[in-house]
Amino acid sequence: MEIGLAGLAPTKPAPALAMLRLLGGFQISQALYVAARARIADQLLEGPRPLHELAESSGLWPEPLARIIQALAVEEVFDYDAETEEVRLGRLGRTLASGVSDSVRNVALTWMETHYQPFGHLWQTAETGRPAADLALGMPFFDWLGQKPDRVETFTAAMTDFVKAIRQDAVNAVELDGAHTLVDIGGADGTVLVTLASRYPELHGVVFDLPHVVEAAPELLRAHQVDDRITTAGGDFFTEVPPGDCYLLSFVLHDWSDEKAGHILDRIHQAASVPDARLVLVETVLDRGDAPQIARLLDLTMLGMLTGRERSSAAWRELLAANGFRLDRIRPTAGPMCVIEATRTG
Ligand SMILES: C[S@@+](CC[C@H](N)C(=O)[O-])C[C@H]1O[C@@H](n2cnc3c(N)ncnc32)[C@H](O)[C@@H]1O
Repeated sequence: MEIGLAGLAPTKPAPALAMLRLLGGFQISQALYVAARARIADQLLEGPRPLHELAESSGLWPEPLARIIQALAVEEVFDYDAETEEVRLGRLGRTLASGVSDSVRNVALTWMETHYQPFGHLWQTAETGRPAADLALGMPFFDWLGQKPDRVETFTAAMTDFVKAIRQDAVNAVELDGAHTLVDIGGADGTVLVTLASRYPELHGVVFDLPHVVEAAPELLRAHQVDDRITTAGGDFFTEVPPGDCYLLSFVLHDWSDEKAGHILDRIHQAASVPDARLVLVETVLDRGDAPQIARLLDLTMLGMLTGRERSSAAWRELLAANGFRLDRIRPTAGPMCVIEATRTG
């Protein structure tokens, strides 16, 4: 009796095979980097192209590029027809193109150009508790970043791609009824505040970030015609933050240890213009059942690159309470991030 393949139930790969696939992750990451840097996906947005054309326009050798593309075809990034040598986008491929709404190309560049090497020191992080980035770069990550404008530019672009991919549902869920002046702490180029200002036409606000980062914001505010209501301020959130009745921290506190995050909250507590100022956090909450994978991945990023961590609801409650804020509610969203609402106390 013949057993057709169609009759076999799909089985999980053997543990050793599954493990080998995980262990090879660093090779796939680098293959994705080559594709992103060579703008292969950009060149395929209009339709399939012969491999030799892609190689020529990217200045790469056809044979290595073909092997890289075939390895990525297994991961659904590209489709490769070995007979015609034509390449087309696979299910995920579009996200490696620049300028598309769900692009993560800047993440591919930043992770491989700045995060990849530090992660080679993860053993020392486990041994000493120090971030791998400090060991690899010789200084804290944000200090290293600030040394060269092009590093800041690439990182800000990557953050915009990354957070857009995972935080849009949470930003859409932020409720600001009754808020007058919203200060977006660590607001980078103002992307989040621009979205919120469009939804709340009466809202005034300040994009606050390090001086060399916030430089990019005025242009975006002008482009979205909210520069009459939203201003920018450069500074250090460990020193002083602008006054406001509502504070937003999107993807900021997770960068820092409890001690450092406490300093930021303390500066907000001091600067608030009303005693019951509101605090809105856009962050992951580890005890949510869904999408733990991206939150755990982010937690590893924090471990390797900074002093921060992703936090459980209990940890958020404790951190806020220890620094003069009462956690009011955690609102899950359709995406992997939550909106955490808190109020300033005494
Ligand atoms: C992970 S990004 C979040 C960006 C933005 N809130 C978003 O959701 O896209 C963290 C931000 O904190 C800023 N930052 C880091 N250290 C800072 C400091 N000491 N003072 C002010 N901003 C700082 C960084 O420049 C960066 O823009």
